[in-house]
Amino acid sequence: MTTTSKALREIASEYPSSVSIFDRFGIDLCAMGEKSLAEACAVLSLSTEQLQEKLAELHVSAGGVSDPAGLTLTQVIQRIVRVHHRRIRYDLPALAGMAAKLLRRHPRRDEEFAPLARHMEHLRAHMLEHIGREEQVLFPLIAHMEEDSIVGYPGGAASLRSISEPIARMKQDHAASGRTMDELRRHTNDFEPPQHACPTHRALLGGMRSFVEDLRQHKHLEEGILFPRALTMGTELASRR
Ligand SMILES: [Fe+2]
Ligand SMILES: [Fe+2]
Repeated sequence: MTTTSKALREIASEYPSSVSIFDRFGIDLCAMGEKSLAEACAVLSLSTEQLQEKLAELHVSAGGVSDPAGLTLTQVIQRIVRVHHRRIRYDLPALAGMAAKLLRRHPRRDEEFAPLARHMEHLRAHMLEHIGREEQVLFPLIAHMEEDSIVGYPGGAASLRSISEPIARMKQDHAASGRTMDELRRHTNDFEPPQHACPTHRALLGGMRSFVEDLRQHKHLEEGILFPRALTMGTELASRR
């Protein structure tokens, strides 16, 4: 459960989607971000327990710490979807929303915030589309191929052809989102808030920092483990024919 002594800004960095809960409870992150959860609840006469309960629902499970080398491909896919795709669905809209809010709240700093909001919105749209394609096209193909491999079904060559192209496409998507992240990193001085940054700005950059780390693990599970193992399995199936 979220500790009540943590600053709201820190909670928003750790769980960017908490911002929508703060909004729902009438808590303005720009005005109250430096206050602790308990202090903000006291000022606004809110129930700390009720807010903590809502925040607890956001805590994404780490998905277990088992070594992915011991998992089947279907289990690797489940971990990617449950942990990393879920995080994208929760956190990216919240982070893009924070960037849009900064632009609205600080119109005089549009030179700084307009590109930030634009890059964040681009990243949000691109990544949601990307994970949709993985879940609807590529991942079911890999899971079916693994089933074929287990039961010895001789459909290998077709399977290999069917996954090779989507895998290449997903890798191109990863490279494109990597370029957008590089732009964001450059534009934000490596996610380092300037001294005068307001709590929303700090929460956004802190959230981006932890999002980047999650994205690194996510990409490693796909490009370092899932894709090469799936291609090897497809090649083996094809040679069985
Ligand atoms: Fe993914
Ligand atoms: Fe991906």
